[in-house]
Amino acid sequence: MSREKIIVIDFGGQYNQLVARRVRECGVYCEIYSYKTDIEQIKAMEPMGIILTGGPNSCYEEGAPSCSRKLFEMGIPVLGLCYGAQLMTHVLGGRVCKAPVREYGKIEVTVDQSSKLFSNVSEKTICWMSHNDYIEQTAPGFRITAHTPDCPAAAAEWEEQRLYAIQFHPEVLHTQEGSKMLHNFVYQVCGCSGDWRMDFFVENSIRAIREKVGTGKVLCALSGGVDSSVAAVMLAKAVGDQLTCVFVDHGLLRKNEGDEVEEVFGPNGPYNLHFIRVNAQQRFYEKLKGVEEPEQKRKIIGEEFIRVFEEEAKKIGAVDFLVQGTIYPDVVESGLGGESAVIKSHHNVGGLPDYVDFKEIIEPLRDLFKDEVRRAGLELGIPEKLVYRQPFPGPGLGIRIVGEVTPEKVRMVQDADAIYREEIAKAGLDKQIGQYFAALTNMRSVGVMGDERTYDYAVALRAVNTIDFMTAEAAEIPWEVLGRTANRIVNEVKHVNRVLYDCTGKPPATIEFE
Ligand code: XMP
Repeated sequence: MSREKIIVIDFGGQYNQLVARRVRECGVYCEIYSYKTDIEQIKAMEPMGIILTGGPNSCYEEGAPSCSRKLFEMGIPVLGLCYGAQLMTHVLGGRVCKAPVREYGKIEVTVDQSSKLFSNVSEKTICWMSHNDYIEQTAPGFRITAHTPDCPAAAAEWEEQRLYAIQFHPEVLHTQEGSKMLHNFVYQVCGCSGDWRMDFFVENSIRAIREKVGTGKVLCALSGGVDSSVAAVMLAKAVGDQLTCVFVDHGLLRKNEGDEVEEVFGPNGPYNLHFIRVNAQQRFYEKLKGVEEPEQKRKIIGEEFIRVFEEEAKKIGAVDFLVQGTIYPDVVESGLGGESAVIKSHHNVGGLPDYVDFKEIIEPLRDLFKDEVRRAGLELGIPEKLVYRQPFPGPGLGIRIVGEVTPEKVRMVQDADAIYREEIAKAGLDKQIGQYFAALTNMRSVGVMGDERTYDYAVALRAVNTIDFMTAEAAEIPWEVLGRTANRIVNEVKHVNRVLYDCTGKPPATIEFE
């Protein structure tokens, strides 16, 4: 599948994924690679353009991440952002040094509108700056195209060579006309036509899967989450008859969730994917008996999941392909794309490939960001309710029950959570909040109900706003919504007599309770 491609070269900046997303939002496919990637490899990918990201270093210091001069001599347009702009200047013979005045935050920049990069951009425009160093002298051949009172070369370019350096960050939303600048780079400078469209992607992927699989047998672990659902439906459309989807109900799902997944993907639903539901609830509860330590619970749930799946897979026999719902941020975060450190140690179906007898893995969503996976899901006709589902951890309610898990506690947290979700949806907040749920604390306290003393559990409500789930802030939920939810929970959920709201951000807390 040949398509136009822009390559982002990552120098360790915070916004590398954001740069790629903004380019894709312009309708052009974009991938991130480490600055250590061989230049021949980059050339072989035939990118329409290259973007160098920001980074925490000073480009003139020994050992700082660098790039070869050849990168600028391949005839491929290059846009350097912040560190990338300084590096371009440094490598091509200009001078970068510590700025007399450090710029941080929203700064008004004056741009030269005759530059292709700033075409249709206001002459004075607010941009996001974050730098200690600056370009003191541009490289030979370059002309200055933007400045601020403290930064004489906020942008510079060598139009004939299609080399562009900008000190600020167009990928950050605080740069008011940043999208326009990236759009200009991609279309006016690189000459892209914009062939990254979700309907094409879905159609092409289905065709490519069909070719790859031929008459082979395919196995998929379906969790009911967005990624695995979209992957499964894509496979179903490509090779439905050859596909088997195994859904393990570990008894730690949200209220009615197992049935909801079955309704959509089971024999009465619209898809042809040989759905097998394994009701393994009791097995998981047995294994979790008496276990209190969070990491141990995670391990038990993960291992038991593999055991159950393995047993089902054995019944099917050897398969040719195993489907995984890996998405692009997983690829980048596991160190394969850019420069970021390995962040995730928990995966929903981690370890499966080691236990299933198969020849090859199929990862149809490997190139997509989460919002693109959702768009692909809608394109495939998956119900919105499922497509916009909030993230749910693999170990499920097992890590939302503090301490030992029992079937009774699972019921309590399921009921409380269902009420909370219902009230949040009624208040129209469900699409605004990043993640929200009820957890069962391990605390019992004294209450009074109908003149009787009670000694029951406390439920904690959590709601956070977050972009990347690595940091988060507690959401400010209107008091009447919290009050109504709390009232309903103590009235409707047996053995709960207290409801607390978690006001902590991440850090120092985490989103989940365990
Ligand atoms: P924390 O609690 O680490 O959560 O702030 C960040 C995001 O990751 C999810 N999460 C998990 N997902 N297995 C998963 O598949 C896990 O063990 C796990 N622990 C946390 C959490 O729901 C949130 O979205």
